[in-house]
Amino acid sequence: MVEEISEEELKKLPFMNSNLDLEERVDDLLQRLTIEEKFKLCSGTRGFETRKINSLGIKPFKMTDGPHGIAFDSSIGKLGTYFPTAICRSATWNPELSRKFGIALAEEVRDIGYHMLLGPGINIIRTPLCGRNFEYQTEDPFLNIKMAIPVVKGIQSQKIAACAKHYICNNQETNRLRVSSEISERALQEIYLPAFKAVVKEGEVWSVMSCYNKINGIYGSENKDLLRERLMEDWGFLGFVVSDWEATTYINKTEDCVNAGLSLEMPIARRYRRKRLNNALTVGKISEKTINSNLKRLLRVMFFTGLFDNEDSLPSGSRNSREHQDIARKIAEEGIVLLKNDNNLLPLNLGKLKTIAILGPNVDKKMAYGGGSSGIQCPYEITPLQGIKEICKEKVEINSSPADANLAIIVAGFNHERGMDSEFVDRKLFNLPEDQIRLINKVTDENSNTIVILINGGPIGMEDWIDKVPVLVEAWYPGMEGGRAIANIIFGDVNPSGKLPVSFPKKLTDSPAHKSSKTYPGNDKVYYDEGIFVGYRYFDKYNIEPLFPFGYGLSYTEFIYESLKIDKLKFAKGERINISIDIINSGGYFGAEIVQLYIQDIESSVERPIKELKGFKKVNLRPNEKSTLRFELSEEDFAFFDERINSWIIEKGLFNILIGSSSRDIRLQAQVEYISTE
Ligand code: BGC
Repeated sequence: MVEEISEEELKKLPFMNSNLDLEERVDDLLQRLTIEEKFKLCSGTRGFETRKINSLGIKPFKMTDGPHGIAFDSSIGKLGTYFPTAICRSATWNPELSRKFGIALAEEVRDIGYHMLLGPGINIIRTPLCGRNFEYQTEDPFLNIKMAIPVVKGIQSQKIAACAKHYICNNQETNRLRVSSEISERALQEIYLPAFKAVVKEGEVWSVMSCYNKINGIYGSENKDLLRERLMEDWGFLGFVVSDWEATTYINKTEDCVNAGLSLEMPIARRYRRKRLNNALTVGKISEKTINSNLKRLLRVMFFTGLFDNEDSLPSGSRNSREHQDIARKIAEEGIVLLKNDNNLLPLNLGKLKTIAILGPNVDKKMAYGGGSSGIQCPYEITPLQGIKEICKEKVEINSSPADANLAIIVAGFNHERGMDSEFVDRKLFNLPEDQIRLINKVTDENSNTIVILINGGPIGMEDWIDKVPVLVEAWYPGMEGGRAIANIIFGDVNPSGKLPVSFPKKLTDSPAHKSSKTYPGNDKVYYDEGIFVGYRYFDKYNIEPLFPFGYGLSYTEFIYESLKIDKLKFAKGERINISIDIINSGGYFGAEIVQLYIQDIESSVERPIKELKGFKKVNLRPNEKSTLRFELSEEDFAFFDERINSWIIEKGLFNILIGSSSRDIRLQAQVEYISTE
């Protein structure tokens, strides 16, 4: 039994001196650890923490899920703010709100005395059926980057570590522990890696979680190419890699994980059992130098998060504050997407209504806890029914019989039971369950003024009922203030401004991952045969009309786009292009528009997407107000990954700059030419 070091002695050690350079402190601590202590630090204990080292006063480094609040199971039963899930936050297209969310989340983590938040989840939404789509942001790499970086920066500004997960190609839950995602280098480079690369290079994320699945035959936690070479050497990652929980179960060799750069195996030692590490070291399959370099990364993050510093010197925490709840509501209000509003039925006018019928399975259902590791228990959760009742109080009668009401509201969708929007198993249904479809058809027969509000985590098929419904609102999982946000939107206190971060296909077979069982869900292998043509890139390529396109969402007001200006029509290597447009609120309501900029390569030696998102701006405007929006493009925005030379290139030639209100509603366009020759 190693004796615990006394407080007095500990204080004298250089690594405890917060005035010293952080790297010096890390090195000092590292060289004091015995090899046995190093082995101990390579794996976790008690579910969500590292083991303590008594001889040097190293406390447990504690991790909690993520991604949309401090999850109940990993925070030993603490209540936390239930923020809208990632897909809803992404539908805000508001990076600043993502930053505020990151700060608030970190304050909650600090308040429970933990050091790392297991999020954001930045896997690409490849199939509508992935059970964890609600935890992920989007189908598009650019939007993914822009919404992930501020979350990471927000979290880490509070000296709490963020952990980007799940690296990489964990895009389905089916067979996630065994399946190999078979993918081309180009698809990795253009679609799946960019957000991870950006959170490392620009966001300076302190941790990355390796995935469960294999990538081209090699598990994420033993993947030297993806970890050691790309993440660490190419992108300069300084933090540590933690395995997803039990992700090392089917990996054979300890040395493969160590040599790939896996610092921390969670939740307990399997590949990193003392004996296994010791054997590998003795026979020379791993070196102490490699163990040191892996460990140094973990120690560095322990220092970043203040594990060795006086708690008073750290940013203070707070939990379940009014401020955090307001951020949760704001995200919901900006993330809810109005998909259909025939005859401008919305916003509702309280003064003109006597009775509203409200029904449907999600009308009063709480969603915070469930769905796997991300489940939260929060002090309260405003359901849609509560939110609507708050606004209607003493003004409008609420019942559940559509035939006797001025209008009917159905709150439909999924929940977090397994087989719906949940970890471990994918969604069983693309369409709503039969009983909900029957309900929608019955209610619309009884009352043609029917509003459907969806609570769910990703694209849903609607062909059986969409034409009968005049109003459709996609509310995602809108968090603990979701009911209020929904009510504020339908009664017009808030003008909807969210836009879809994913395409909604008409049929599942329209969607790129669903060409055959080989492309989803696969067996031992799942083939990403669609390559780079994920989401709208696929719908554009095959000219398939989606039910609702990427980037789409309605407002109660109208916007006019005009006066596209470009500072140069030809550009050369190293030059930037400055673009501006004017936008005018031509309708009758204050509102926000998300203006999107796509690039189209007109002349290319390889097939490229018809368009790719490369910029967006969200602007708030009063009626008749006009604003000039500016975009700046650099030559990288025009590049593609060329597998023939294994590198990114920009080919000379013509490109279209497309500016619009969604990926399928382009309002302005102009041509530019790249003239560099090399
Ligand atoms: C999930 C991770 C989560 C971890 C810890 C795993 O099942 O895939 O996202 O962070 O558990 O709870």
